Amino acid sequence: MTLSAHAFAGLEPQKPDALLALIAQYRADPRADKIDVGVGVYRTETGETPVMRAVKDAEAALLSGQDSKSYLGAEGDQRFAQLIWQLISGKEQLGAHCFGLQTPGGTGALRVGAELLARARPDARVWIGEPTWPNHAPIFREAGLQVRTHAYLDASGGHIDFDAVISALTEAASGDVLLLHGCCHNPTGTQFSGEQWMALSDLCNRRGLVPFIDLAYQGLGDGMDEDAQGARRMLAAVPDALLAYSCDKNFAVYRDRVGALFVQSGTEQSLELARGNALTIARSLWSMPPDHGAAVVRTILDDPALRTVWENELAGMRDRLQAVRQGLAAAHPLLTSVATQRGLFSLLPLSVEAVAAVRRTHGIYMPADGRINLAGLNQANLGRFVPGVLPHLLARDTSIFQSAKSQELSA
Ligand SMILES: Cc1ncc(COP(=O)(O)O)c(C=O)c1O
Repeated sequence: MTLSAHAFAGLEPQKPDALLALIAQYRADPRADKIDVGVGVYRTETGETPVMRAVKDAEAALLSGQDSKSYLGAEGDQRFAQLIWQLISGKEQLGAHCFGLQTPGGTGALRVGAELLARARPDARVWIGEPTWPNHAPIFREAGLQVRTHAYLDASGGHIDFDAVISALTEAASGDVLLLHGCCHNPTGTQFSGEQWMALSDLCNRRGLVPFIDLAYQGLGDGMDEDAQGARRMLAAVPDALLAYSCDKNFAVYRDRVGALFVQSGTEQSLELARGNALTIARSLWSMPPDHGAAVVRTILDDPALRTVWENELAGMRDRLQAVRQGLAAAHPLLTSVATQRGLFSLLPLSVEAVAAVRRTHGIYMPADGRINLAGLNQANLGRFVPGVLPHLLARDTSIFQSAKSQELSA
């Protein structure tokens, strides 16, 4: 036996990605009326995830007009970063206290940010409300940081329990990091109100916490400006902050991997240190980010006509999501919180067994935590989806009620 046969023998086996397994299961299901509310991409009323018109036009313009593919540098397309900053902040320029770099998707932005924090504050703990996007904790852990989870939802599972969030965070120490979904929380669709963002920024200032905002769904909630309000409030209130941005959902360019990391710091000197280190980290991770998707987004945002086309398409996506939410909420009182939430996702309070039963009996596919992608629903399948999940929600509701009752009785 050669040495190389043993090269990987010491590795721990890894669990396959549950969502990818679900996609494969869905594809293999022969039922014509199966429903996919699992995968996290936007879908039209007829179930497609098309390339946006604005993206197609920008790609055509790039194809004919691009005259070089020479290297840009670890910071990527700086005009792209400036345009994204305008979407986030509503301001023209990045200003003296902030820099941005292009990254491969929001995931790349989170990872460079995590590595930067691990260099700057190796003992920092990253506080993340549970539930969250399953990739959050691994990204920070892989960068060498400790992750602490905190309470986030109320008992109904449909709303934020803000008092519980604040009280859990009294355990956070100065220098710790607070991860916040900028809008359209994945997987719950919940969002902090303006007052809650102010309270969170006060908390960060009082306790010396560094907010790290993950803004992956701007424009899919209430509007581009509306969805940035929380981030704007936070960035205006604190000296140091990070923001990971994804264009992969709001420009529907998922596999093109388009994102940016923004870092804000109170002094020019610390900002310069952060910039230099972030660039070194990016250089060792991917050297330079892939150009195409960011060039497409830049082309759209720099061209008033294309920008209007994109804004209208995005508004159409947002309106459809809202209409599905209204339809679902109107179907049963147990689903009313869905209409108060925003973005692609809601979390239904279903047990793992109920999720499996719904898949087996009705061909309704969702991940084990009960997250549904609203864009998987439409006029044609809503009437089958609701009766499929409702008996399980009712059973669950009764058991929550009963366990509350028995606690009352034993108290
Ligand atoms: C909350 C959240 N953050 C970040 C990302 C990463 O997005 P990207 O595909 O741009 O890496 C996702 C993607 O699903 C997400 O849901």
